[in-house]
Amino acid sequence: MLPGIDAIAFSTSKYFLNLEMLAEHRNVTYAKYYSGIGQTRMSVFPPNEDIVTVGIEAARKAMVFVEDKNDVDILIFATESSFDLSKSAGIYVHNFLKLKEDCRVFDLKQACYSATAALQLAKSYVMENPRSKVLVVGSDIIRYPPGSSGEPTQGGAAVAFVVSQNPRILGIEPYFGVHTYDIMDFWRPAYLNEALFDGKLSAYNYLKSTDICVERYFKNSNLEISDINHACFHAPFGKMAIKANNQSLKCESIDQTLIYNSIIGNSCSASLFICFISLLDHLKSDLTGNRIGFFSYGSGSVAEFFSGIVSADYRKMMSTADNQAMISDRFEISFPEYELISGNALHDFDRYKNIGSVTLAGIDHNKRDYRTVSL
Ligand code: HMG
Repeated sequence: MLPGIDAIAFSTSKYFLNLEMLAEHRNVTYAKYYSGIGQTRMSVFPPNEDIVTVGIEAARKAMVFVEDKNDVDILIFATESSFDLSKSAGIYVHNFLKLKEDCRVFDLKQACYSATAALQLAKSYVMENPRSKVLVVGSDIIRYPPGSSGEPTQGGAAVAFVVSQNPRILGIEPYFGVHTYDIMDFWRPAYLNEALFDGKLSAYNYLKSTDICVERYFKNSNLEISDINHACFHAPFGKMAIKANNQSLKCESIDQTLIYNSIIGNSCSASLFICFISLLDHLKSDLTGNRIGFFSYGSGSVAEFFSGIVSADYRKMMSTADNQAMISDRFEISFPEYELISGNALHDFDRYKNIGSVTLAGIDHNKRDYRTVSL
């Protein structure tokens, strides 16, 4: 049996902006957004939601499938949008989930690649410690300067997955193709809220890295393209994943992987795994035994192509109806409200509904005050 993903769930903000509104206010044809880049909505995070609140919500849903939470020996919080350069965001998750005290908790960063790094580390750990489980939370919110080419690709969400030795969803194979290359395509200095980027250079390096990683993967594995049944690509916007698929694997199911992403926006570390959930939730055929290819890309840059085999019990582990309800129950915000939120001009923590069981109630003396709310 291959070690891998035993349970998986995601969460996003309760609020979204319709990109038709953005197009109107930025004087852009809406067709450029929905057809040219493949996005129709973006998640917008009000003051009471952040990477911790959505991270807790995703983790709470994934942990429902874990019989004994004391089996979780490590919690890794993968993010590039942390608000604290010292304390791990994972410690808040550890507290609200009431995980045991002798559990290692730390954050991991390498742009959108970090949850993949966490998965590979967790896999090695559970191979050495067969009774252990590792909880990985990938949570990000991405903001670009208003009016920039990146703005319609903004978004945010969290994914949480439990890694175990006998996974009920996906066994991770030992093959991979990795590529690390120093490039200034996208970066966010610690003192800025918005990312800086060279959009065209980033898209170029993403596609170049796809080719290199896929080639290395096939060389290492002795497999062929026809051995990959479906593929998920990191999706900064849908069209990027479609282009990467067209130039490499040409898998037919790519559209099903992008359904959630097109209405959430870029969720960075969570994006690749939300594409996987989207595939499981939307593809009608039985995926048992299928090989799924995964392309992870984190600007800066580190990229990896790896694969997994879908377990026989995966359908019992899905929360398709809950995922679809979470997405359809979101509230649309107006453009002026979007501008206030993204300009950090709103400090009214009580004004908005919360997606889950924990809210950011306020920030006092630079200390974040997270509180449980009744569902
Ligand atoms: P742009 O330069 O404004 O767009 O933004 P464009 O002019 O290249 O047009 C985009 C597409 O829309 C083109 O299609 C146009 O033809 C089409 P393509 O040639 O690409 O097939 N188009 C239209 N289609 C229909 N009707 C119309 C119309 N007009 C144009 N009327 C850009 C594109 C990528 C630069 C922008 O989205 C951007 O800057 N994004 C932010 C950076 C990014 O997402 N990069 C992706 C790779 S890097 C990455 O994935 C890492 C990341 O997630 C961060 C991390 O790792 O932490 C970002």
